[in-house]
Amino acid sequence: MRVFVTGATGFMGTAVVRELIDAGHQVVGLVRSDAAAKSLAAAGAGVHRGSLDDLESLRSGAAAADGVIHIAFTLDFLNYGRAAEEDRRAIETLGGALAGSDRPLIVTSAIGPAQRQGSLTTEEDTPNPNSPRKSEEAALALEARGARTSVLRLAPSVHDDGDHGFVQRLISIAREKGVSAFIGDGLHRWSAAHRLDAAHLYRLALEKGSAAARYHGVADEGVPTREIAEVIGQHLNVPVVSKSREEAAAHFGWIALFFGRDSSASSALTQERLGWCPVQPGLIANLKAGHYFEHPADAVLSRS
Ligand SMILES: NC(=O)c1ccc[n+]([C@@H]2O[C@H](COP(=O)([O-])OP(=O)(O)OC[C@H]3O[C@@H](n4cnc5c(N)ncnc54)[C@H](OP(=O)(O)O)[C@@H]3O)[C@@H](O)[C@H]2O)c1
Repeated sequence: MRVFVTGATGFMGTAVVRELIDAGHQVVGLVRSDAAAKSLAAAGAGVHRGSLDDLESLRSGAAAADGVIHIAFTLDFLNYGRAAEEDRRAIETLGGALAGSDRPLIVTSAIGPAQRQGSLTTEEDTPNPNSPRKSEEAALALEARGARTSVLRLAPSVHDDGDHGFVQRLISIAREKGVSAFIGDGLHRWSAAHRLDAAHLYRLALEKGSAAARYHGVADEGVPTREIAEVIGQHLNVPVVSKSREEAAAHFGWIALFFGRDSSASSALTQERLGWCPVQPGLIANLKAGHYFEHPADAVLSRS
């Protein structure tokens, strides 16, 4: 299959490109810089110049493909509303180019918008209408236009070498503050998936997914946030402490909003429907392996 991938040069996308090429697919990735074009070509994929705000580039990329995987997202938490609107328009455009055909579109979303505090989120849970990210609603609305679209919700921590997401941020904060903290009793849980397992799931969704389905890229259903703080504390050799909800914003900054929430989720239906079986190490095992801490700046520079 000729597959058009947006976000092909990012943390998740590079693994998806590798997974698709290894399975015999031809991949063309959206790129917006010479450096990205070079790395994508080196990975064995074709290059399609454009960006999320260049809708014509998305339309032409999708029109020439047998299937599309949309992963790109402008990760700007300070302008999240604008990034979410850009994403919504990009999805509408990609889906419009596939409408009326049987060519699949897999849209990336996150567990967060569908999360219900205190319960395990399943594929049946619908997103909170107040969530700014509308990837899912935009994707599933395309069904009415005859596009074969499904949604892949990623866990808040997709982990592996090169992770620059929430866990890496927690490590940086622990280094900077000289303590590794959790919020409250630290019993609320985070779901997680290894990047290679998630990449395999994208391929299964592309090859055998159903229209209007929601899939969960979740391998660890729920890792207590206290355990995450403990393993970070051990590796950085700093004390592990609890912060109250009132103290959390000052300690963690914007990430307090995410680290303070329960985001446990199940992928039982995904595993049953697609035969997906995560085989890679879990989040704690991956942290214990140490590569998250191998950066030269791993020494704690200052202690408060
Ligand atoms: N990583 C996680 O733990 C995690 C967890 C939950 C959900 N997600 C979701 O997964 C998706 C990918 O995450 P990631 O960690 O792979 O992000 P990433 O490493 O920052 O990669 C983002 C990718 O999107 C591309 N991109 C960003 N803005 C673009 C724009 N305006 N036009 C064209 N391309 C653009 C980037 O291209 P350049 O190479 O040119 O920068 C890059 O290829 C996002 O939707 C994210 O919300 C990730």
